[in-house]
Amino acid sequence: MSKIKLKRAARIILVGAPGVGKGTQAERLMNRFPQLSAVSSGDLLRDNVHNKTPLGLEAEGAMKAGNLVPDDMILRLILDALKAKRWVSTTSSIDDPTPATPSSSPSASFILDGFPRTSVQACKLDSIIPVNLVVSLITPVEIILGRIAGRWVHAPSGRVYNTTFNPPKVAGKDDLTGESLTKRADDDEETWRQRLKKFDETSEPLLEHYEKKGLLWTVKGNSSNEISPQLYTEFEDRFCNPEF
Ligand code: AP5
Ligand code: MG
Repeated sequence: MSKIKLKRAARIILVGAPGVGKGTQAERLMNRFPQLSAVSSGDLLRDNVHNKTPLGLEAEGAMKAGNLVPDDMILRLILDALKAKRWVSTTSSIDDPTPATPSSSPSASFILDGFPRTSVQACKLDSIIPVNLVVSLITPVEIILGRIAGRWVHAPSGRVYNTTFNPPKVAGKDDLTGESLTKRADDDEETWRQRLKKFDETSEPLLEHYEKKGLLWTVKGNSSNEISPQLYTEFEDRFCNPEF
């Protein structure tokens, strides 16, 4: 696949139901546009759970039950990740954010996968660093449910496989490290339905928040292979075309 250079900074959020393919699309975008990097709020939380940090111990119950973790917890975590990547000033804080004018350099581009998820989180992010594109990914629920059973992950890296769609080269093993793949603790049908319920409750105000700002772009498809080409075209128009 050809690699494409960005001409301006892309600061993107991926929004969509659990299992819609946010992680899959983020990885594909990073392959095609190497200046991009991504932060997944779910991966950050799972790292904390795995490492038994105080935040991880606090978050584990809500995650296993398919509920959202509290806004202030996720905000602390994301702000630290944004600072570590130097995407926001190290003096920024949740209560008193220093709204910086974001760099227009293409190297200051990023994808947020799974954050923000509520309008409270979105308002906080606006004051920390404004995004310039919100992608709403839509796939019918029956199709997504079929995928969840086949998902296997390499927990240390967050790499995602699917037994039918993108199986690992060796069954049960990560392609890069050869380490064992595992199931996510929240990937049974009942928990997935609860995650979907939470998504349905929170996504409407979240998407409205961005629609009012003229940042919302919606893409629909029955599979990631239908969605990716549309996403690439939109991306190239917005961030690689000097005339946009
Ligand atoms: P998070 O990790 O963000 O989970 P999620 O939103 O439920 O989404 P998933 O990661 O399950 O799915 P995805 O859209 O990334 O799909 P994927 O690409 O893997 O959050 C987990 C939990 O953390 C939340 O429940 C909450 O508790 C907490 N949390 C996180 N952020 C929070 C926040 N901001 N505020 C509060 N709490 C927060 O694809 C799914 C599967 O389908 C994969 O196996 C993939 O290989 C496969 N697949 C993809 N495309 C296709 C295709 N075309 N055909 C077949 N299979 C496909
Ligand atoms: Mg994901």
